[in-house]
Amino acid sequence: MGTIFQVEPSARAGSERYAGHVNPQWARLLDLLQMNVRYERCVGAELFTADGRRILDFLSGYCVHNVGHNHPDVVRALHNELERCGPAMIQTHVADLAGELAEKLCQRAGGRLTKAFFNSSGSEGVEASIKFARAHTRRAGILSAEHAFHGLTCGALSLMSDPFWREGFGPLLPATVAVPFGDLDALESELKTKQFAAFIVEPIQSEAGVCVPSADYLRTAESLCRHYGTLFVLDEVQTGMYRTGAFLAAHHFGVEPDMVILAKAMSGGLVPCGAVLMSDAVCDSVYSSLPRAFVHTSTFSENSLSMRAALATLEVLEAEQLGQRSIEAGEYLTARLREALRDYEMVKEVRGVGLLMGIEFQAPKHLRLRIPFEAFGAVHPGMFGQILVMRLFRDSGFLTQVCGNNFMVLKVAPPLVVTDAQMDVFVCAVQDVAELAHSPGAFWSEALGLARRAFQA
Ligand SMILES: Cc1ncc(COP(=O)(O)O)c(C=O)c1O
Repeated sequence: MGTIFQVEPSARAGSERYAGHVNPQWARLLDLLQMNVRYERCVGAELFTADGRRILDFLSGYCVHNVGHNHPDVVRALHNELERCGPAMIQTHVADLAGELAEKLCQRAGGRLTKAFFNSSGSEGVEASIKFARAHTRRAGILSAEHAFHGLTCGALSLMSDPFWREGFGPLLPATVAVPFGDLDALESELKTKQFAAFIVEPIQSEAGVCVPSADYLRTAESLCRHYGTLFVLDEVQTGMYRTGAFLAAHHFGVEPDMVILAKAMSGGLVPCGAVLMSDAVCDSVYSSLPRAFVHTSTFSENSLSMRAALATLEVLEAEQLGQRSIEAGEYLTARLREALRDYEMVKEVRGVGLLMGIEFQAPKHLRLRIPFEAFGAVHPGMFGQILVMRLFRDSGFLTQVCGNNFMVLKVAPPLVVTDAQMDVFVCAVQDVAELAHSPGAFWSEALGLARRAFQA
């Protein structure tokens, strides 16, 4: 059993203010999981806490920190931009940095992607892609894949099938339909109706459990979309910016989407920034005449700090060859995890592409483990995964999370600058926690403690 993590006093005061004025349940949940710590300094893959602990980040803020935390080149670029006192958000000017960034993103994305619309988050990108697809096709419907994660604004949420996220927020957008990910027959039978403006899909479904489609799924989906006049839109908010090795995951599958949504890792994890890349034809359908030149805009859209951070991030990703690093490190980590976890009956699979990986757990077969597993699953389906996450954090100093729409998959997505030595320690930590989960005692009594605290708090 690891040491119980003490909450340092100033962290406690900060957390109470947060609970008092922002979101009390969030602070409460982190307290419960013993993960409510104050981070003082974050560099590369390392997070240093106020009470002197070092945590290794194997989550990257859900694929935000591809270049590592506070990369010095991105920090410097931001300092320089602030110091030059340039045009940050004039609104009525042509933002030259936006042009430079759009050109670079489109060059790397390739295919039919020649224009960019900038925004400040992934959800906003999804919203924009819905509008652009409707404007281009003059159709209302939007198709998505079951268990997708596209963001929590009303339009993006309408494309997410899991009831947890939707409940209480309806009515959502009409004419939205989700088909099973990987099921081309289901997709075609919807496309045939010719009601759909776009099929919006993650090339690898991250929060659904790091689901990698078969080699031909996306290619066939793309040609079906073309055939029925529906735009093929990839949400690369997590998979883009070299997370899976290629600039876009689309490149692994040889597809040419009509639009690609980027965000998260675009600006080095320091300034909000997102983009929708699109074809000339889609762009022209929206900005179709002089009076419509500003028909879709956003105040923060092309602000110079975001643009500068994104340009610097792109440079770092390429100068440090982090795409190549993602592939090599992903192969290394996958092999090591598979080897270390192969004898544990509750480990179903280690999968992923590059450094977007998941470890899928499954219900145990042996009765002595099955009874506690089912009992705690009945309290909350996420209980098993949260104990894994909690123990990895508390006992071994690793920040991880389970997937948002599949609590049995532990997400493994460290910054692309992670070292072999850091991955080696991670493998040992995961093996330790797997060992614990396969012994009837400590892991399960911890679950009981967690359940009690949840109901007492
Ligand atoms: C694939 C995907 N799309 C869209 C979003 C929404 O992004 P944001 O939280 O920046 O609005 C997310 C967020 O996790 C995501 O994972």
